[in-house]
Order: sequence, then structure tokens, then C-alpha cells
Amino acid sequence: MYLTDEEQRALDGEYGYALEMAMSVLVKLGDMYSADNMIEIDNVHVDASTYGGIHEAGLEFCKRLAKEGARFRVPTTLCISAIDFSSWRELRVPISFAKKQRELAKAYAKMGATPTWTCAPYQYGSGIRFSQNIAWGESSAIAFANSLVGARTNRYADLVDVCAGLVGKVPRFGLYLDENRRGQILLSAEKIETRHLTSTDYATLGYYVGANVFQRIPVIEGIPPGASIDQLKSFSAAAATSGSVALFHIVGVTPEAKTTNEAFGKNAIEEKIRIGSEELQKAGAQLSTVQDGKPDLIVLGCPHHSVEQISEVAALLKGRKIRKNVEVWLFTSRVSKMLAEKNGHVKTIEAAGGKVLSDTCPLHLPLGRWNFQIMATDSAKMAHYTPSIIGIDVIFTNTQECLDYAIERKRQVAGQPWKK
Ligand code: F3S
Repeated sequence: MYLTDEEQRALDGEYGYALEMAMSVLVKLGDMYSADNMIEIDNVHVDASTYGGIHEAGLEFCKRLAKEGARFRVPTTLCISAIDFSSWRELRVPISFAKKQRELAKAYAKMGATPTWTCAPYQYGSGIRFSQNIAWGESSAIAFANSLVGARTNRYADLVDVCAGLVGKVPRFGLYLDENRRGQILLSAEKIETRHLTSTDYATLGYYVGANVFQRIPVIEGIPPGASIDQLKSFSAAAATSGSVALFHIVGVTPEAKTTNEAFGKNAIEEKIRIGSEELQKAGAQLSTVQDGKPDLIVLGCPHHSVEQISEVAALLKGRKIRKNVEVWLFTSRVSKMLAEKNGHVKTIEAAGGKVLSDTCPLHLPLGRWNFQIMATDSAKMAHYTPSIIGIDVIFTNTQECLDYAIERKRQVAGQPWKK
């Protein structure tokens, strides 16, 4: 890969250990993907932000960087933490574990990162815009940035995102190139009645799309232009979960797909798939490991909820009481939580017995001191990972029914939302 004199000097260690190390990682990455040169980036989102994700070696690496005086060269936000910094004791997190996460936070603060602690930084953290080159970690955020904003990023692994932030450049390959951003497979959702779909329905649709395209770039027709940001956020997270989708186009909705022709450019359509209610029912059913039962943990907010979504949950819980022995946990960013506190939504949810948690995510929180058996969630991503990561059963259904589980004695799994 071609390097400028400046880049070569950084690689040779003239600017210190941190830049030398970061450059060596990025140069290896560029060589691996046959990149011609490095390009400047405007923004970084670090996914290597949880102690539970990067463990002791990752923590030592970041502490060493901070000690050596490393500084991020572009605006850099942080993805989730392994703890809610304000209520980790209430969540029964061991003190020794919380201490490690705080050390990691301290190292990133020293390096100049913004402590957003969210997997949805595009909502209240990162001001990214169309066609900017960025370097993001976290699969759902990557798919959102590429597809819905039209910014450009490859899928960065933990700590490679840190290297990108320190150098302010990345090798130019993959989704930074126009020719690699065009659609390859066409999916038509025109057989589905899409007018009244919930965010959970969009998650199911995304899950189906991801599972059927794997690494190809999908173009989806038949989604109404009025689909909300939160619905598209659910779609994006689910598509990046069941497949390695880093970029999708929705005709008439996403910025690089005003028309189907524009979405494909010079690419031929490799395959066409029609999506009907039957396919979606199957995709949704796959996400539950049990069809019935009494969930003792309700998880909402994967990806992190916006203020609007928190307000919807507050409306559903207003004046109701959550049963004893059931936990309702809503996950969000600290910015959204602060705004939801100001307008009373957090108080409403807490009055019902629920918890509004910021900064973190149940897949990274240490839950060993709880004895949960079954989770109910409205998130396809959470439902997908819960059995393997947390090791408990899961019921995937819409928000209303998740909350009904917490209020009522017992309820059957959701009905069939995919009526024509
Ligand atoms: Fe965010 Fe955790 Fe879901 S990082 S996208 S809440 S799995």
C-alpha cells in the first residue's frame, strides 16, 4: 500500500509508540485487502468499549495507549459500557468488574473520546453526514451509518476502531469505494401490508433479509417512505445480526436508492426474492426458543431506545404495576435518558416498577448474580444472541405483549402480525 512520507514516518515510530502501533495495524489491514492508499476519516465510533468485550488484554492495551499520551485525531464516540455507570450496584455487578470498566472509561477519556456510551450514536451523539468517510464499530450502527445516512465505513473489529481514531485515516477499500456500494440482490416486500407495522415487525423483516442475503448488498422494494427512524433502526440491527449486512438500500427511503436502478448502478441483479407474510411469520417464530412460559426479564431498547420510544413505553406502563419477581429493563443512551427524565417518562416507568438503564446492554452486563430463566424482548438482535450469550430462553414478540407478560400472569406468544 502506498504511504505518504508522513504516514511512513508514523509507521517508523518517529511520532511515538501509539501512532507506530496504530499505523502498523492499519497497514497490515490495508495490505490484506489490497488497498492502494490511506484516506482521511471524519469520525470514529469505538466498539471496543466494554470490559466484558475486550477483557484484561484489551484494557491493558488501552491503558498503555493512554499512558503513552495517545490522542484521538478525529471526533470519537464510545459504544456501550459493560455497566450502567450510575446504577451498577442496583444491577448486582461485582465491584471488581465495575472497577475494570471504570479504568477503561478513564483511559478513553484521557485519549479524548466523547463518553456517549451508546450503540445508537447517530441519534444523539455523532453528527455524521452523507458521503463522509468514517470508521465505525458495532454492526447495527455500521449498517445504519452506511445505509440510512450514506456515510461510508467498513465493519471494524474491536481495537482496530481505536487505531483508526488515533491515526485519523484508514486504508481505502471495501465500502469506501463507489463500485462496492451498489446493490446485488433484490427483495420485494410488496406483498406485505406495511402501513401498520411496528418496530418489532421491521426487526423481523430485517432478520429475514439478513438471513437471505448473507454478505451481499440487498435492495428492498415496498417499504413506505414514511417508515420512522426507529423502525429503520430495528431493521438495520436485525439485518446486521442474521447476515453480515453493512449496507442495504431501501428504494425511495435510503439516500443512495432513489430508484431501483440507482441502487443497483451497473450491477446485474443476482437474485430476486419476494417476501410475503408467511416468510416473515417463519423468521419471527425462529427467534423464540420457547412458545409459552413466564418471562422473568423483559428487555427493551436494543439498539438503545430513542426518547420517542421511551415515551411509548411510558404510555403503555402508565398506571400499571409490574409483577413481583419480574424485571422490566429498558436500555437507552445517557442523553436520551436525561431528556426522558425531563419530560417525566422515566418517572412513569419507574413508578410501574421498571428500570430505565443507560450506557449498557444485557449482553455485556455480568448477570451471574441474577437467576433469570426466560427473557421476553421486542428486539430481533437481542432474541438472536440471548440463548448463546446469556444462556436463557427467549420469547420474541412486540413491545405491548412484552409488557403484558410483566403485568399479567401468563400470556401466549404474539399472534400473527403479518396479516395481508
Ligand atoms: Fe446495542 Fe447491545 Fe443491542 S450493544 S444493539 S443493546 S445487543
